[in-house]
Amino acid sequence: MIKAAVVGASGYIGGELVRLLAMHPEVEITAITSRRFAGQKVHRVHPNLRGLELRFTNTKEFDADVIFLAVPHGTSMEIIDDYLGSAKIIDMSADFRLREDLYREYYGEHKRPELIDEFVYGLPELHRKEIRKAELIANPGCNATATILALYPFRELTDEAIVDLKVSSSAGGRRENVASIHPERSHVVRVYKPYHHRHEGEVIQETGVKAAFTVHSVDIVRGILATIYFPFEGSARELLRKLLIYKDEPFVRLVTDKGGLQRFPDPKYVIGSNFADIGFAYDEENSRAIIFSAIDNLIKGGSGQAVQNMNLMFGLDERTGLNYCPVYPV
Ligand SMILES: NC(=O)c1ccc[n+]([C@@H]2O[C@H](COP(=O)([O-])OP(=O)(O)OC[C@H]3O[C@@H](n4cnc5c(N)ncnc54)[C@H](OP(=O)(O)O)[C@@H]3O)[C@@H](O)[C@H]2O)c1
Repeated sequence: MIKAAVVGASGYIGGELVRLLAMHPEVEITAITSRRFAGQKVHRVHPNLRGLELRFTNTKEFDADVIFLAVPHGTSMEIIDDYLGSAKIIDMSADFRLREDLYREYYGEHKRPELIDEFVYGLPELHRKEIRKAELIANPGCNATATILALYPFRELTDEAIVDLKVSSSAGGRRENVASIHPERSHVVRVYKPYHHRHEGEVIQETGVKAAFTVHSVDIVRGILATIYFPFEGSARELLRKLLIYKDEPFVRLVTDKGGLQRFPDPKYVIGSNFADIGFAYDEENSRAIIFSAIDNLIKGGSGQAVQNMNLMFGLDERTGLNYCPVYPV
């Protein structure tokens, strides 16, 4: 069995990691940490986990083969020395995802630049080989995962793309924030970040395409829809051909139905799963490719992708513990 510990287990990503790891046939959870809830049973924070015999602890010393750091960005680089060398590490934060120049552009000065190259960017569809050998993984951002998976097949067709993102409330984490309380968040279609969203850096790094994000907060608890536009003179058939690089990917589903309500990806149909649904349209009149990508931000955009990475790092079939269908209806 793989012994796994989750640092920052009281957050949404940490809670989802505990849920997925508890169902994983090859994993034993040896520690879940929280400073605020140390000593309390896991279901006091994550009521869906009632019945799991786990309590939060505030220790830094535990017996683990893999440690998930599910803490805010800026924190991982402060606490990483407590864990380096003791186990494989999968960092859920943004701290080690970007090369230094991009990190500086989107986040500011990096406190541990010497460590950046030690981390592998944990997007299995692009970096499966390196992930298998990695000791340290930087798990991608949720908006970045949705966008990179959609844009990567087309990276040779364009240098620039417009990316419109519709994002759920859980993407902002569990910390209290007036913008997230029910009277403020309910029924919004709010422009959250019109430009220079931090996840752009990951898309530029991984695809070479200058992707300009506009991010909207919408009234869903989980899920992200990325709609990506770029100029293209060609045909729908050519776009489809490019997407076929994913035909053997276990967690990418191509949505190519010709008719019906569900002929384009929608987060509603991936919730609770590790799938990324990708589809497209070709706007001949305006010479424009439009690519759509839907994920559950907490699973393929976070904890599920981290478990997929863990599986690869430990030589397991990457689908282990992740091979379930989305919940429907949600
Ligand atoms: N939400 C998403 O959709 C999503 C998707 C992909 C990646 N991520 C990334 O995953 C990380 C966690 O996100 P989240 O949404 O779960 O955030 P969150 O709900 O705010 O949880 C973060 C947790 O980290 C713990 N923490 C904070 N500072 C700490 C410190 N100095 N030392 C130890 N623990 C500390 C806190 O627990 P205590 O205060 O109880 O100790 C808190 O519950 C972030 O870096 C985020 O960017 C999030």
